Amino acid sequence: MNVVIIGAQWGDEGKGKIVDFLASDAQIVVRFSGGANAGHTIVLGGEKYALHLVPSGILYPDKIVILGSGMVIDPEALFQELAGLEQKGIDWKGRVFISDRAHIVFPRYRELDKQAEAGRARPIGTTGRGIGIAYSLKASRDGIRLADIDDDERLVNLPGDDRAWLSIWKERLLPLRIDLAAYLRQHRNSWRLFEGAQGALLDIDTGTYPFVSSGMSCAAGAAAQGGIGPRHIDRVLGVFKAYTTRVGNGPFPTEFADDSPGSLSQYIRNVGNEYGTTTGRPRRCGYLDLVALRYACTVNSIDRLVLTHIDVYDGLEEFEACVGYKIGDKVIEDFPASVRDLTGARPVLRKFSGWKTPLGKCRTYEELPLRAREYIEFIEEFTETSISIISVGSDRKQTIVRESPWIK
Ligand code: IMP
Repeated sequence: MNVVIIGAQWGDEGKGKIVDFLASDAQIVVRFSGGANAGHTIVLGGEKYALHLVPSGILYPDKIVILGSGMVIDPEALFQELAGLEQKGIDWKGRVFISDRAHIVFPRYRELDKQAEAGRARPIGTTGRGIGIAYSLKASRDGIRLADIDDDERLVNLPGDDRAWLSIWKERLLPLRIDLAAYLRQHRNSWRLFEGAQGALLDIDTGTYPFVSSGMSCAAGAAAQGGIGPRHIDRVLGVFKAYTTRVGNGPFPTEFADDSPGSLSQYIRNVGNEYGTTTGRPRRCGYLDLVALRYACTVNSIDRLVLTHIDVYDGLEEFEACVGYKIGDKVIEDFPASVRDLTGARPVLRKFSGWKTPLGKCRTYEELPLRAREYIEFIEEFTETSISIISVGSDRKQTIVRESPWIK
């Protein structure tokens, strides 16, 4: 069975925790896109693990994890991350593989990324990890894939410095390299999780272009870059937070205007620990944007939603969610492509009463207070999508499963 998990907002929805949780029933986890720009946090037994390139199933001793064909991989960052895991007692050898179609991020890409950003009149707010450069070179057919690293013919166009650097990493990369499609065909009876990076609104095609990352973070990416075809996807899960955050620049219709000390924005950032895992940047915060979420559900065929961070609202008397955009004198309920429209959109807000009760100990849907369930059911109605999993805290056990994605 093949289950795809993507972020349904602008990234940082809590995918790491959900992939880790669902990986207990999978044998293989394939991360299909992005690079060291991503940051997936998992808390296990009080210990915090921040993953950037390694798929989130790694914390189980028996799972195979694969860096998929759509990924752009900085070997320095990868082996540093693996060494960090090893220090924490995670034995990764023999169960971390990389698709031979994945691309390499060379050190100079990071510099080029920063230079490109500095030249933009409206910077994107990139993480500076060379991601946009790697994907640009891939599209212009000048990239180097894992399949190429021991093929001198393919390396002739590389500058000498790049070749010297690659020769340092080659011997460590080669034992991890696999033909992903063949591997998955050989393990066709396994249960596989396909882990997206970033989120639907940061996808190069479906996102808020040009304020996006450069990879495919949409569900279709799992098919194009995960080693399977689109008809073999059994289920698409979209992870979203009870509110919205965004790191970097770009339109964000529900962003709180007031970010001063004591504001709701700062309250959510502090309670939700909304600081970038990769860059440490404070995340921009705002109410849940249901217009954007419904769009993400539509363009990704999201079968079921997964709600995270709802416990961050535990202390609130009341809160709101966006059900439409006012642009000029028109109210719209569909997510526009135009940056100008999105930037000028004023959210139409609907009020909800808070529950003022800690949710962290709830283990079934019925244990959730009525007001929390009212919020959840409103989201389901608006997006026309059921919420099958609810996370009420960072620990694995703080997860309410209403319906398992592994049941066909
Ligand atoms: P880049 O992918 O580093 O080029 O960054 C492009 C945009 O995507 C920036 O606004 C980043 O902050 C954002 N971004 C990239 N990766 C992530 C992520 O994993 N979570 C949230 N935002 C991200």
